[in-house]
Amino acid sequence: MKDFKIDQNKIPKHVAIIMDGNGRWAKQKGELRIFGHTNGVDSVREALTAAGEIGVEYLTLYAFSTENWNRPKEEIAALMDLLVQSIYNETDELNKKGVKLATIGDVEILPKSCQKALIEAKEKTKDNKKITLILALSYSSRREISLAIQKMSKEVSQGELNPNAINEDLVSSYLSTADYPDPELLIRTSGENRVSNFLMWQLAYTELYFTDILWPDFKKKNFYKAIYDYQQRERRFGKTSEQILNHNA
Ligand code: FPP
Repeated sequence: MKDFKIDQNKIPKHVAIIMDGNGRWAKQKGELRIFGHTNGVDSVREALTAAGEIGVEYLTLYAFSTENWNRPKEEIAALMDLLVQSIYNETDELNKKGVKLATIGDVEILPKSCQKALIEAKEKTKDNKKITLILALSYSSRREISLAIQKMSKEVSQGELNPNAINEDLVSSYLSTADYPDPELLIRTSGENRVSNFLMWQLAYTELYFTDILWPDFKKKNFYKAIYDYQQRERRFGKTSEQILNHNA
């Protein structure tokens, strides 16, 4: 069972993960980078299962950033193939586990085979209610925010949006994550302590958890450890400890 005593009353609704370190994991083993990505898929399965088991409602995974298009084209092609294969292999399992698949990012610039696999898997899993798996694909937070500003500006210039109505909730509603709550916890593996253009608006109050473990070695128990760590923290949202304690009393 779980090595950490998870408090079922303090489960984050939304966990986001920057899955990092696949390349270094493969290199340590004298293998090609794609070997790391292939093994990374097992960790995706572990994190999703662990999240579902404790009642996390949304799991967002940074699977491919806008910047990742700069990688060698062989690695990009192999990653896209892996994504398509994983989606086809796992769709039945997603249904069994009650997982609804969703995406954020410029999915329309992914290879056609990838888009097809995603559309089919989204359709097949659309009625599932236990947990939503949100894959960030060709995603960049600054681009997402720029697109939202563009859309708002157009609506303002066409007289459809009053500039005075622009507030935090409205901005959130123009982002690709409009349907989801902000993550309470962000996990990043592989010892890098950065946000790397991921959900920068949405992470304003998120607890950040960094671990040296490389993504292919990140298993269920590591996910639970991150949740446990999160549960030991006091989330104050700018208030004092006393205010939080009085409110909870
Ligand atoms: C980062 O490691 C990882 C990625 C850019 C890709 C993540 C993809 C997967 C885990 C597989 C496919 C995903 C799904 C959802 C089925 P890196 O290559 O940057 O590692 P490095 O920093 O050690 O080079």
